[in-house]
Amino acid sequence: MKSLGELFGCFKRQPRQGDATAPANQSTSDTPSMGAVASGMPPPKRPAPAESPTLPDERNVDEPGIPLKEALKEANNAKIAVFYSHNTFDEEKQILEIEAILKALKDRADVEKSLEIPDVQRIRVSSASKKAIQYLTLHNSWPLIYIKGNAVGGLKELQALKKDYLKEWLRDHTYDLIVIGGGSGGLAAAKEAARLGKKVACLDFVKPSPQGTTWGLGGTCVNVGCIPKKLMHQASLLGHSIHDAQKFGWKLEGKPEHQWSHLRDSVQDHIASLNWGYRVQLREKTVTYINSYGEFTGPFEISATNKKKKVEKITADRFLIATGLRPKYPDFPGVKEYTITSDDLFQLPYSPGKTLCVGASYVSLECAGFLHGLGFDVTVMVRSILLRGFDQDMAERIRKHMIAYGLKFESGVPTKIEQIEEKTDEKAGKYRVYWPKKNEETGEMQEFSEEYNTILYAIGREAVTDDVGLETIGVERAKSKKVVGRREQSTTIPWVYAIGDVLEGTPELTPVAIQAGRVLMRRIFEGANELTEYDQIPTTVFTPLEYGCCGLAEEDAVKKYGKENIIIYHNVFNPLEYTISERMDKDHCYLKLICLRNEEEKVVGFHILTPNAGEITQGFGIALKLSAKKADFDRLIGIHPTVAESFTTLTLEKKDGEEELQASGC
Ligand SMILES: Cc1cc2nc3c(=O)[nH]c(=O)nc-3n(C[C@H](O)[C@H](O)[C@H](O)COP(=O)(O)OP(=O)(O)OC[C@H]3O[C@@H](n4cnc5c(N)ncnc54)[C@H](O)[C@@H]3O)c2cc1C
Ligand SMILES: NC(=O)c1ccc[n+]([C@@H]2O[C@H](COP(=O)([O-])OP(=O)(O)OC[C@H]3O[C@@H](n4cnc5c(N)ncnc54)[C@H](OP(=O)(O)O)[C@@H]3O)[C@@H](O)[C@H]2O)c1
Repeated sequence: MKSLGELFGCFKRQPRQGDATAPANQSTSDTPSMGAVASGMPPPKRPAPAESPTLPDERNVDEPGIPLKEALKEANNAKIAVFYSHNTFDEEKQILEIEAILKALKDRADVEKSLEIPDVQRIRVSSASKKAIQYLTLHNSWPLIYIKGNAVGGLKELQALKKDYLKEWLRDHTYDLIVIGGGSGGLAAAKEAARLGKKVACLDFVKPSPQGTTWGLGGTCVNVGCIPKKLMHQASLLGHSIHDAQKFGWKLEGKPEHQWSHLRDSVQDHIASLNWGYRVQLREKTVTYINSYGEFTGPFEISATNKKKKVEKITADRFLIATGLRPKYPDFPGVKEYTITSDDLFQLPYSPGKTLCVGASYVSLECAGFLHGLGFDVTVMVRSILLRGFDQDMAERIRKHMIAYGLKFESGVPTKIEQIEEKTDEKAGKYRVYWPKKNEETGEMQEFSEEYNTILYAIGREAVTDDVGLETIGVERAKSKKVVGRREQSTTIPWVYAIGDVLEGTPELTPVAIQAGRVLMRRIFEGANELTEYDQIPTTVFTPLEYGCCGLAEEDAVKKYGKENIIIYHNVFNPLEYTISERMDKDHCYLKLICLRNEEEKVVGFHILTPNAGEITQGFGIALKLSAKKADFDRLIGIHPTVAESFTTLTLEKKDGEEELQASGC
């Protein structure tokens, strides 16, 4: 993990609304541009960096003040602290006013004797540390106030804080931290805070899907996301390996058949073991796990309602919102009754049969891919383009591969669904789906329809913030319903934080939520000066032929640097495993590196379509993080015979209008 010092001047996260302002000439850097990894990232604004930044921990001997790490720790341990730097008249005046506000609170008759309001602890830091603290907290206000280790802002922000809130804040609460949501991010944060000696409660509760599906502790990834998806992807790949095996000399009797119920049960058994493991981990780390739905009923109070509707009220000094997302539905009659989402698919009691997957991004393409691989007749319904936000050259290659693989694509958006046969626990139903489509001969819009056994909606996911009581305390939300953060801290309520999918402008990926949870806990409980780096995040779409990428999409690189400044190296290749088995997939494997012509061919985009792309992309991701140049890839000696070695021998430049490359074996 980089320290703030190392990050200074090279941190590339695109800050959000409410961030401290940046100078007009400030350069931006390469944010990832794939799908949701990039979507929603607002334009960059940052606090003014030093012209020639001094590493914050290298104290300028001519300036007073304690080193940054010490200063942050002090602020973290104090009940009320204020950072100042130059001891100017203006700073002193503001600190006196801050002290006066707190004194007035102390003197108020209604303040009980038990509520101790300590003196303000003044912490003097150097100019470099001031800039670092402003950068870390994204607060430009100075002198900067910290209450119970949370950056509040300056005098203006303190004055804006409701008097009652301030009084309540200074009171002792049952927990140091309440985490709302026990998914990837919430669990990681709760365990890290407990490791740091804090008293933590973690609430996790799953509201059933419209189909009535529910699950255990661990959130989306474990129960209805990454884990069951990857296992089903593996099941589908194995189907092909059975065919390949015969080409490699294995004698297999009879036609292999797949049993949906067997796969579903195996996957669910594995998930149950993970659910149990998380409960054990929380107990071992002394995190109080509460299987209840959390809702703010006061600025420092959560009402936790369990399955039996029993309500328990608990209080804390700080709160972490990690409530994640749930699938969206369109709004027309019957849709919630007749269709399913990824929340239901992995527990489906019956074999799905002929399936329509509505949507054309990660979830839809991955589910469509493995369902087809398991032997089902699958159609993907695309509203506009595949994989919005991803490199569109790669998206088109995925589409071509999926078609060659046997999947069907339809353009359109369903407008009506009729039930023909009702589903049972043993058998899928039958539905007729209607959608308008242009008649290719007449050019007129016409209504088309088709029958399917299962309709899977994968049209995006919505933040779970409607009934968490955020309006009760005034946590700002974006249009998307996600929490708006100054980094991971609420812009409006300084003791409320958010991480993972529910935080506006961050990639919706499990490792992102986990990293953000751990890093944030070290920052707010230890005074660490670490930041989560939301840039150059490697990701993989687990389509039948996996697509891995890191950094910029081709179109984004062109937009950002200009076509003339981009040089793209690419190639096709034939994985050795596919040669004997004569798999059609061999004609679709492709890779490319997007480089900056005038910056020693620094690699800003990495893309590969291949089996096991996830494994390869994870490894090469570090090269992009370390600002590798094309020459570094060339210097690297390959591992033979692998697919990944192709990145060490790239010489072909991608040119406009060139013919599709032909792969040759080794
Ligand atoms: C089908 C699918 C496949 C995916 N595949 C991948 C993948 O391969 N790789 C990857 O990196 N990411 C993948 N993702 C995304 C990944 O699952 C999420 O990014 C990740 O789970 C986000 O973690 P989180 O902690 O923010 O939220 P979640 O994991 O969603 O956890 C939130 C938890 O909070 C609970 N909750 C909500 N409100 C309350 C409340 N008021 N009180 C108590 N509890 C509450 C929820 O029930 C849930 O358990 C996939 C997602 C889906 C849907
Ligand atoms: N492998 C992984 O790491 C992985 C796997 C799965 C999910 N995830 C995470 O989960 C997040 C959610 O993924 P997602 O695929 O559910 O959502 P998404 O990325 O938001 O994509 C939604 C898709 O549905 C389409 N759509 C939206 N509204 C529609 C409507 N009313 N009718 C028809 N189509 C509609 C969109 O089309 P338009 O382009 O026209 O808007 C888009 O194709 C992703 O951001 C990703 O980070 C990650």
